[in-house]
Amino acid sequence: MKGFSFKNETFIVLIACLLWLSASAICNAATTGKHWRYTNKSKQREGLKFDVLDYGAKGDGRSDDTKAFQAAWANVCKAEASTLIVPYGYKFLVGPISFSGSNCHKSITFQLDGTIVAPIDPKAWGASLDQWLEFTNLVGFTIKGKGTIDGRGSNWWTDSIYDFKQVKHTTHLKALMIIGSSKTTVTGITIRNSPLFHLTFDSCDGVLVHDVSISSPGDSPNTDGIHLRTTKNVVIHHTNLACGDDCISIQTGCTNVIIHDVNCGPGHGISIGSLGIDGTTACVSNITVRDIKLHDTMTGVRIKTWQGAKGLVRGVSFSNIQVSQVEVPIMINQYYCDHSICKNSSSAVSIADIVYENIRGTYTVQPLHLSCSDSKPCMDLSLSDIELNPKPNGHQMSKPFCWQAFGELNAPIVPEIDCLQEGRSSKRLGHHYANCAA
Ligand SMILES: *[C@@H]1O[C@H](CO)[C@@H](O)[C@H](O)[C@H]1NC(C)=O
Ligand SMILES: *[C@@H]1O[C@H](CO)[C@@H](O)[C@H](O)[C@H]1NC(C)=O
Ligand SMILES: *[C@@H]1O[C@H](CO)[C@@H](O)[C@H](O)[C@H]1NC(C)=O
Repeated sequence: MKGFSFKNETFIVLIACLLWLSASAICNAATTGKHWRYTNKSKQREGLKFDVLDYGAKGDGRSDDTKAFQAAWANVCKAEASTLIVPYGYKFLVGPISFSGSNCHKSITFQLDGTIVAPIDPKAWGASLDQWLEFTNLVGFTIKGKGTIDGRGSNWWTDSIYDFKQVKHTTHLKALMIIGSSKTTVTGITIRNSPLFHLTFDSCDGVLVHDVSISSPGDSPNTDGIHLRTTKNVVIHHTNLACGDDCISIQTGCTNVIIHDVNCGPGHGISIGSLGIDGTTACVSNITVRDIKLHDTMTGVRIKTWQGAKGLVRGVSFSNIQVSQVEVPIMINQYYCDHSICKNSSSAVSIADIVYENIRGTYTVQPLHLSCSDSKPCMDLSLSDIELNPKPNGHQMSKPFCWQAFGELNAPIVPEIDCLQEGRSSKRLGHHYANCAA
């Protein structure tokens, strides 16, 4: 009887295994007395957790924990859906580090609940370093948690500390940089006081940023909040940005970007550009920016391009933008120049099909400034439902300004804009699109 029962169970298990296999799953049946169960072996090998404390990290804010992070990462990489844990209640001093994903499995999580601080000794930074915390070539990577990344950048912002003046010439230090990755999520965390840009995505496809907080003082130079470059399929929402440069800057090679429910200020606003430095070709398309609050920023929504460049910005929509004491809420500048003299040139990045809808609030310098190129005028601009009221704060106030700007107005428009021209449309000028692939 015993033998018969055993065979019967084995038979059932075999059939079950075949069924599982046919569903392309791994099956491991084990008999335990009268019962049998499956163990998902592939499941066992993934979802592992690696705590940096187990790799020798001290988390006291003084000991260098860089090696411990590197060692933990090496193990995280070996199993799919694994997690690197940076625990709450500790402060980890981590130097410049590259978390390479080239040999990593997918769906790795960086669970940040503690604080990571940058070295303040300039000797910790090598020459020509571009980033502090770098993640490369990952698939399905997530950074999440309630923790903080603190760049302790104040020494970088002044020229008063000699050693920093030296390293500053060779390094362009960004706090958190994600390169060449697909399906990346950043959520929950705080990034503050970066020496330069706070959060940068370069050559990524699929980016989701939400419930993130970025902050540095309004007078800290070039501390952009989120910087996108050659990156597509991006969603950024429910995020607070306060910094000393653009809250979000969208660079060449970006397409299919949606930004919504974001607060910005202080800072320089939400910017496309600057594009086309040194005569390069720049292409940006399909950008949606909606439900944004800007306060005490230099510009609100802006497109800035250098002279002498080629390319095209098209298909941009700015809607439901609330501005409060913003110097210039609406700006296009095809003569962008960050030093005093730039060479005049007749070539330019074309700008077409830009929508401004429901933009309201107060400005402190000028409500609208559209300074477009003589050779490549801005075309198909559409402005609807604009209400911008002056809130003088000592600056000289100016009226709306347009130069070579073509498009249409849909009431209500306050204040009156009489400088936008009718008649020229890019729809009849296919050559405008020639520099950028569709
Ligand atoms: C085993 O786990 C993996 C990953 O969690 C899952 O994709 C797969 O469907 C599971 N297989 C079974 C049979 O449950
Ligand atoms: C524009 O981007 C959105 C969001 O990524 C996408 O759903 C849409 O298909 C894109 N439109 C075009 C014309 O590519
Ligand atoms: C460029 O052109 C503008 C407008 O014509 C002019 O005011 C400016 O002086 C020129 N700049 C240089 C560097 O030639």
